[in-house]
Amino acid sequence: MIILLGGSGYVGQAYQSLLSNKGIAFQNLRRADLDYTDVATLTAHLRATRPAFLINAAGYTGKPNVDACELHKAECLQGNAVLPGRIAEACAAADVPWGHVSSGCIFTGARPDGSGFTEDDAPNFTFRRDNCSFYSGTKALGEETLVGAPSVYIWRLRIPFDHRESPRNYLTKLMRYERLLEAANSISQLHEFVAATFACWEKRIPFATYNVTNPGHVTTREVVDLILKSGVHPKAYQFFDDEADFMAKAAKTPRSNCVMSSAKLAAAGITLTPVHEAVRQALAQWQKA
Ligand SMILES: NC(=O)c1ccc[n+]([C@@H]2O[C@H](COP(=O)([O-])OP(=O)(O)OC[C@H]3O[C@@H](n4cnc5c(N)ncnc54)[C@H](OP(=O)(O)O)[C@@H]3O)[C@@H](O)[C@H]2O)c1
Repeated sequence: MIILLGGSGYVGQAYQSLLSNKGIAFQNLRRADLDYTDVATLTAHLRATRPAFLINAAGYTGKPNVDACELHKAECLQGNAVLPGRIAEACAAADVPWGHVSSGCIFTGARPDGSGFTEDDAPNFTFRRDNCSFYSGTKALGEETLVGAPSVYIWRLRIPFDHRESPRNYLTKLMRYERLLEAANSISQLHEFVAATFACWEKRIPFATYNVTNPGHVTTREVVDLILKSGVHPKAYQFFDDEADFMAKAAKTPRSNCVMSSAKLAAAGITLTPVHEAVRQALAQWQKA
């Protein structure tokens, strides 16, 4: 039996679908039913139910976007920085291996040679660098709380998208925003992300941090071109002049745009579809809400 935290959320629902489709028994814990943010409560539950594995898809993302985290700092810190440490304590006490959904948004840019950041690179969009959004800072702190924790995977998700229209889907966001910021990013097909992360446990690859993005990176204009070619949402897409124009007109806090390497995961035998092809497939299978 698997325990799922945050199963009611955008990412958590994808885990629910994956586990249901695979016929794997799981318990979707909701804070309203059991306060899993409390170490003693979660430890007691883990000892009583003895799950084989726990997935933490809980956290505070801010809606409709990360700007909201600037206004809800206590909740953001609690959900992203404190909660992972609490889960680590409970899982260690009950001897339960687990996986934590982190984020690639703790990086900005690319390596000096243009290649993607690896798991050996130190996050560079953090409170320690004093250059980040509040959300990114708390996600980086969340990873820090797990340093030295036993039997945990840290999975870095990055700008999730899939084939279903949704305000949380990156492709839908590009279709709906009035104006777009041109940037290069590595991104994650949501269902490939959940399958790849669960495969880490199924294949028993070493507990470690893994970037779980589709290989390669895309620019905003490349994705817009793919949207236009697919015929899914024709319109005249408008762009900001540059990041300064974006910050002045549309954002309260800087965004992470970054290129990541998924080579470590691939070396462990878990591969995702190359990113341009994954975007093409999502658009080819597009389902309107
Ligand atoms: N969506 C993205 O773009 C994205 C990108 C990269 C990484 N991530 C990470 O993926 C995880 C899940 O994100 P999501 O988009 O699925 O979020 P979501 O839709 O907002 O769902 C998160 C779930 O977490 C639970 N939760 C526990 N503590 C919370 C708190 N303090 N504040 C808010 N919710 C809390 C809630 O479930 P219950 O109350 O039912 O228990 C909630 O339904 C987060 O850690 C996020 O940082 C998301």
